[in-house]
Amino acid sequence: MKRPKSCALRNKTITLTKTEKTKYTGRLLRLSDRAGVPFLANRVINQDIFKAHQFLPDKFVDLLFIDPPYNMHKTFNTGRFSEMAPADYADWMDSWLAGLVRVLKPTASIYICGDWRSSGAIQQVAGKYFKIRNRVTWEREKGRGAKGNWKNNSEDIWFCTMSDEYVFNVDAVKLKRRVIAPYTDEKGRPKDWEKTEEGAYRLTHPSNIWTDITVPFWSMAENTKHPTQKPEKLLAKIILASTRAGDFVLDPFAGSGTALVVAKKLNRRFLGIEIDSEYASLALKRLEMAEKDKAVQGYADGVFWERNAAVTR
Ligand SMILES: C[S@@+](CC[C@H](N)C(=O)[O-])C[C@H]1O[C@@H](n2cnc3c(N)ncnc32)[C@H](O)[C@@H]1O
Repeated sequence: MKRPKSCALRNKTITLTKTEKTKYTGRLLRLSDRAGVPFLANRVINQDIFKAHQFLPDKFVDLLFIDPPYNMHKTFNTGRFSEMAPADYADWMDSWLAGLVRVLKPTASIYICGDWRSSGAIQQVAGKYFKIRNRVTWEREKGRGAKGNWKNNSEDIWFCTMSDEYVFNVDAVKLKRRVIAPYTDEKGRPKDWEKTEEGAYRLTHPSNIWTDITVPFWSMAENTKHPTQKPEKLLAKIILASTRAGDFVLDPFAGSGTALVVAKKLNRRFLGIEIDSEYASLALKRLEMAEKDKAVQGYADGVFWERNAAVTR
């Protein structure tokens, strides 16, 4: 279906011109020897994770964010992932995760994304190497209606750590919610909420159900044509909660580079690995754009706003 002209004008999808493809492809790394942290910091590797992991240093990563192909048929530009039996998906996960444990600091946090079909395998394999702390479920907001099933509208992120010593900055990830019942005390003062020009708001502790996330679409400044691009707001929550400024974020299935871009916007170091050169180049373009624009949609003034709240950014 063709979009009307007015939509085309508002379409902010990030694409690559031919010249940009050549420029960014030339800047992608390919490793054939062990590399050091200063060399790898803030770079994108265009390589198969099965090959690249052996060249990474030991114990340099504070946050490992993993968004692998889920257990379903999916085309990723030049690559294709095919659905497998749950036990085979677990074996596939194990075959690259085992090689990544070595690169993690003893205080590292690990987040692994999946849907309901992949979650069983993730719990099983992650439990072999890490302490599983929680499973976040986030509402995808978009989703196809099904006639004989519930609409598939959620995804999981498994939160794990290497040990009991880890970073969790809860104050950095509070949610700003509109107050429905603005109770006051006997003197008429707000109870646990704040009166602002825009209305009554409360800062709430973040739970493991996230309903404030918008999946990137064509009129959002972060959108690319990557079929499973994660929202920047989702990564901002993870990075702010589980790292400090200057910490190192590794994303071994980087896609269009969302985790890297948000790490850069929030002053963390990062390294991405992506097998498809076009996606890896898109990541580089987004990283360049992040030099000028550090805004994360839905996150402003140090707080996360509810979905569709009137945040100017
Ligand atoms: C779910 S997507 C990640 C999306 C990403 N989080 C984003 O926001 O754009 C998985 C990515 O893994 C890449 N990939 C698949 N197999 C890979 C491999 N063996 N090594 C490295 N990357 C791989 C795919 O090309 C795809 O871009």
